[in-house]
Amino acid sequence: MQQCVAPSTSLLFLLLCCCCCCCNCFFLPKASLGRGRPETYLTKPTSSRDIVNQTCEKCYELSQTLSYAFCWAALGPIPIAHMTNVEGLAVISMELALQNATNTVSTITELLKDMSLDPFTTLSLKRCLELYGGTVPILVDSIGAFMMGQYGTSAMWLSGVMETASNCEDGFGKRTSEASPLSQENWRLFQLSDIAICIIHLLSFPSATTPS
Ligand SMILES: *[C@@H]1O[C@H](CO)[C@@H](O)[C@H](O)[C@H]1NC(C)=O
Ligand SMILES: *[C@@H]1O[C@H](CO)[C@@H](O)[C@H](O)[C@H]1NC(C)=O
Repeated sequence: MQQCVAPSTSLLFLLLCCCCCCCNCFFLPKASLGRGRPETYLTKPTSSRDIVNQTCEKCYELSQTLSYAFCWAALGPIPIAHMTNVEGLAVISMELALQNATNTVSTITELLKDMSLDPFTTLSLKRCLELYGGTVPILVDSIGAFMMGQYGTSAMWLSGVMETASNCEDGFGKRTSEASPLSQENWRLFQLSDIAICIIHLLSFPSATTPS
């Protein structure tokens, strides 16, 4: 784990430090921060409305799959989320996704210790373990790309992360009406990546924020 060393007045840097401290972070980008923030009204909200509410609402409107309730439940309880800009919210979402994916690797490892699992479930879990194992470094890279302003690359990798979550879920088949043992984990990873992709979209196409 890396430490926050260099003092900086950049809000994004402060945000990352705070993220690090409260979320036991796995990654701190070394890229220079605070460069080239687009001057959309999103970065300077004209109304006094809360940035988390605004962003979750916008993304709920724009995304086919995002749940407003999830977005609010994930970002709302994080104090710094209300003081940052949308770029910061994207980073927070990706950090949460990274934490979740890392956590899920341990969850699957634990689940696999259960000897009473049927062979099909064991196989599906092993497949998910591979998928999640691959997703952790991809999320680290997505954060890095985002911090360097490579929004397109970051969004592309995040789409892959969403696919990973779907593939893991689908691997359990639809043999029973029961949810898969990883449905919550898959749902969280899918939604958190969706939030970050939506924000990247908002930053890349500011006009998308003003419905005609
Ligand atoms: C933000 O959204 C939550 C949940 O929808 C709501 O409870 C809260 O009052 C909203 N806050 C603001 C400032 O709009
Ligand atoms: C996972 O994501 C949720 C948001 O859905 C968040 O509350 C939680 O802290 C994250 N981290 C872990 C380790 O689950």
